[in-house]
Amino acid sequence: MCGIVGYIGPRQATPILVNGLRRLEYRGYDSAGVSVWQDGKSRVVRCQGKLQGLVEKLEKEPAPGCVGIGHTRWATHGRPSDTNAHPHKVGRVSVVHNGIIENHLKLRQELESAGAKFSSETDTEIVSHLIHQEFETGAKNLTDAVLGALKKVKGAYAIVVLDDNAPDTIVAAKNASPMVIGIGEGEHYVASDVTAILSETQEIIFTEEGEIVTLRKDGYSLTDLDGKEIERAPQTIRWTAAQAEKDGYRHYMAKEIHEQPRAVVDTLAGRIDLEHDNVTLDGIEVDVSNIKRIVMVACGTSYHSSLVGKFLIEDMSRIPVEVDLASEYRYRNPVIRKTDLVIAISQSGETADTMGAVQLAKAGGAKVLAISNVLESSIPRLADYAFYTHAGPEIGVASTKAFTTQLVSLALLAIHLGRQTGELAPERARKILAELVSLPNKMADVIEHGAQLQIIARRYGKAKGFLFMGRGNLYPIALEGALKLKEISYIHAEGYSAGEMKHGPIALIDENLPVVVLVPQGPLYDKVVSNLTEVRAREGKVIAIATRGDNDIGAIADEVVMIPDTLPELQPILAVLPLQQLSYYVADYLGTDIDQPRNLAKSVTVE
Ligand code: G6P
Repeated sequence: MCGIVGYIGPRQATPILVNGLRRLEYRGYDSAGVSVWQDGKSRVVRCQGKLQGLVEKLEKEPAPGCVGIGHTRWATHGRPSDTNAHPHKVGRVSVVHNGIIENHLKLRQELESAGAKFSSETDTEIVSHLIHQEFETGAKNLTDAVLGALKKVKGAYAIVVLDDNAPDTIVAAKNASPMVIGIGEGEHYVASDVTAILSETQEIIFTEEGEIVTLRKDGYSLTDLDGKEIERAPQTIRWTAAQAEKDGYRHYMAKEIHEQPRAVVDTLAGRIDLEHDNVTLDGIEVDVSNIKRIVMVACGTSYHSSLVGKFLIEDMSRIPVEVDLASEYRYRNPVIRKTDLVIAISQSGETADTMGAVQLAKAGGAKVLAISNVLESSIPRLADYAFYTHAGPEIGVASTKAFTTQLVSLALLAIHLGRQTGELAPERARKILAELVSLPNKMADVIEHGAQLQIIARRYGKAKGFLFMGRGNLYPIALEGALKLKEISYIHAEGYSAGEMKHGPIALIDENLPVVVLVPQGPLYDKVVSNLTEVRAREGKVIAIATRGDNDIGAIADEVVMIPDTLPELQPILAVLPLQQLSYYVADYLGTDIDQPRNLAKSVTVE
């Protein structure tokens, strides 16, 4: 999510750090900072806002020195501000961090009761305090102190640490957040992405889970968390800077499709309470005894996640849910009651119509919960409660990881509401939670089989139109599949409830119409199969998205894309992945501008 870069060598560190951060700015851009060592002490300079703000600050208060670490932030814990910006320095220790510390609440309480004074709201500062504590209790060197601290930390992280008393080393550790080492002549680099250091060196070592690196000017050592040496030869990376920014993918959209399993892990991090078969919503306490109805408002892809949210919330909590396009809700004189909970979903947190709907709902006395990807953006700031998806920055205009993390957030919210109303039994909650935890692997499995979608895209990519069909909670996924295809390939596409087919769209079907049918195993399987057969009977070309192991579907579909089995409640999260890939490959085949499709904007801040 955020960007990290570190340098140790004979040259001035600050220009190298700033240059690296500039290349990482697309990963996070709400604040930035550096810590650079000289004459016995590191100097921390941090600044809220874009990197340019830090550059200007460094011109006024330079940070000279040949060892340093830097960071560009995408806030997850603690709003964007100078004091929440990294590095976080405690005593002699400066830390930059990517990812999420899952047990941050518990660790913070423990540290505070032991006398630690916090100066920020971040989970990162906990790591600085823990390392500091290790030194206080006798750690011999920085590597040992980091190892000791990490034994207490649960979660996904990449951290890089600088110690005022050991300026000849930088220590970095990785667990489930990317980190690379750059090898130079008498100098070394560490970064969250190769992009940051590729202009300095092409000799790169990719670190793996649970590894720790000690960098010196003239060498490095790589060990596991038990201190056991690891041998790994550097690779020569010949990517251009533009390729590196996309992790070697040709488009941000492809990169973001592949990031989804990781993003979902971050959405779930620290929120599953297995002890009570429940979910903790970052301190949000919605009093369900006061809620008679939920109204969901959103636009575009976020509207489609609201439609899935209705299924999840009604099913698990039995609270009635209405879903509205924000642009409709705000102008139709809606009924608003003090007993309504309005859930506003917005990736950017800035969409003008969603904002207008939230203002209206608040003025009518309803409570508002915002689900957003951008900390402290306008909509969550205005809302009574804010829940963040933690997808990380999404650059491609066509939303992918923002959507799946919204669905996972809604599943968490539904479980929380269901447990409060008492409608969701602990056993069922446990089952859904366990399945949520296994989803990232299943998502990776679907995404890895994407080559098949590329073949299908070439076979049908010249069609004039596409139809997408699904039922129940997969009807919104049919809408989302059609929207994705329209957005980036400019092919006309419609999403339909399969049950509605005979009321109109059936007239469109002939041998030139590809029809994508969402037909995984589940309560409506037989009904969808009969809709599919009707398409086939009119010579429509059927692309079926089905459950692996379904041996019958091949006989009645032209193409079958298999997805792993999951609970029916969570099927939308897997079923949307091949549709994202299909639209991506069709657009790529047709040669459109995938990341910046014509006439579309990532964030629509005007009506
Ligand atoms: C634009 C984007 C869509 C997005 C919609 C709502 O149209 O191109 O991808 O779904 O806005 O944006 P939001 O940030 O409110 O989710």
